[in-house]
Amino acid sequence: MDETTVRQLRNLDRQLRATRKTLILLAPVLELPLELEDRVTVLSFPLPDAAEIRELLTQLLPPERLQLNPEGVEQLVAAGLGLTRDRLRQVLARIIVEKETIRETDIATVLEAKQQRIRQTEYLEFFAPNLGLTAIGGMDALKGWLQQRQRAFTAEARDYGLPHPKGVLLLGIQGTGKSLCAKAIAHLWRLPLLRLDVGRLFGSLVGQSENRTRQVTQLAETIAPCVLWIDEIDKAFAGSNQAAADAGTTQRVTGTLLTWMQEKTAPVFVVATANNLTALPPELLRKGRFDEIFFIDLPNAAERQEIFRVHLERLRPHRLREFEVAALAEATPNFSGAEIEQAVIEGMYRAFGDRRDVATADILAAIQDTYPLASTAREQIQALQAWAAQGRARLASEVFPGPP
Ligand SMILES: Nc1ncnc2c1ncn2[C@@H]1O[C@H](COP(=O)(O)OP(=O)(O)O)[C@@H](O)[C@H]1O
Ligand SMILES: [Mg+2]
Repeated sequence: MDETTVRQLRNLDRQLRATRKTLILLAPVLELPLELEDRVTVLSFPLPDAAEIRELLTQLLPPERLQLNPEGVEQLVAAGLGLTRDRLRQVLARIIVEKETIRETDIATVLEAKQQRIRQTEYLEFFAPNLGLTAIGGMDALKGWLQQRQRAFTAEARDYGLPHPKGVLLLGIQGTGKSLCAKAIAHLWRLPLLRLDVGRLFGSLVGQSENRTRQVTQLAETIAPCVLWIDEIDKAFAGSNQAAADAGTTQRVTGTLLTWMQEKTAPVFVVATANNLTALPPELLRKGRFDEIFFIDLPNAAERQEIFRVHLERLRPHRLREFEVAALAEATPNFSGAEIEQAVIEGMYRAFGDRRDVATADILAAIQDTYPLASTAREQIQALQAWAAQGRARLASEVFPGPP
C-alpha cells in the first residue's frame, strides 16, 4: 500500500468514526501498514477443512464421476487440504474435462497442485518422503523411540487415550543425518512433510515475518496430520542472519512459534533441527516443548559400518559382500554420515574414470583425501556432547560411544 492510500484511509477512518459505516478491506495476504494496525480488526478465512472438501466433492461431482473406493475418497480429501475452494474446483474440473472420471491415479494431480501452492510461499516446501528408517545407519535409540510410536497417529492410539506426539528437536553437527531423519519420520507415519526454511521466513516489511509464521502454522494445521520440519532453526537466531538485527522480530516470531507448539491441538508433529546449540534461546530447549531432544553425535565404528552398508547397498545392490566394510569404518574416525556417503561416491568416480567397477581400495583412497568437518568443528561438537551429558538431551545412539 503506498503512502497516499494509507493517508487517505486514515482520513476516511476519522470521518467514519462518527458514523455507523464500516470499511471492509479484502486481501489474499495480510500486509497491513503499521499506521493502520490498531484501527483494523483482522478476520482470517481459513482454508476448507476435510468436511468442507467432502461436501465440495459431492456438490461438484455426480457419484458416477468419482471412481474411488472410500479409502480413495479420503486420500483425495487429504490431498485437497491446504488448497482454496477455487483452486480445488479448478483442479477437479480439469481432471473431469480430460478424463471424465476421477480415479486413484488422479489424486497425484491434486497433490501436485498443493505442492505448487506451497512452493509459491518460498519459505515452505512440500515433500512426499520415500526414505524410511532403513536408510539411516546407526541411531538405534532414536529409531527405537520412533518405532515405539509407529502407530501414534492412528485412530487406535486416540481411542487408547494417547495424545498426539508433539515433536522432536534433533541436535548435531552438519552431515550427521538430521534432515534424513526428518524425512524418515514422515515416511514412517506416512504423513506429508512440510519443510520450513526459517531463514526465508524473515521478511523485510514490518509485521511480515509474524504474518508468515501465522500462515505457516495455519497451513500446517489445515494439512494435518502432517510433519512440520523446521530445518536449521538455529539460523533464525544466529548473528549472521540480517533479520537478527531486528531482535524484536526474531523474538516475536519465536514467541509465536513456541506458543503455537505448546498449545496446538491439531496433529502436527514438529521436527526441528539445529547444528548450533549456543544460538538457541533457552525457552526452546525447556522440557515440554518437544517430546524429546536428541543429540546426534558422530557415528561410532559400528555405526559407520552400517552407514557404509546403507550406501553401498543402494549404489551396488548385489555387490555389498565384496566390500570390506570393517576396514572402511576403521579408516573413517570423525567422519559424519554425509562424509561417508561422499567418500563412497568419490571412490566411484575414481573407478569410473579408469573404466572399472568400484572396489574398497578406491573408497579408501578417497577417504585419504577427505578432511572431515569434525576436525575443525571440535569445539562445537564438544559443547554439544557436554550439554547432552548433563542429561538435557537423549543420545540418538544409546550404545555407549565405543571406540572412535
Ligand atoms: N546416519 C546416516 N545413515 C545414512 N546416511 C547418512 C547418515 N547421516 C548422513 N547420511 C547421508 O548424508 C546425507 C546428508 O545428511 P543430512 O541428513 O543432510 O545431514 P544434516 O541434516 O544433519 O546436516 C544424507 O542424505 C545421507 O545420504
Ligand atoms: Mg540438514
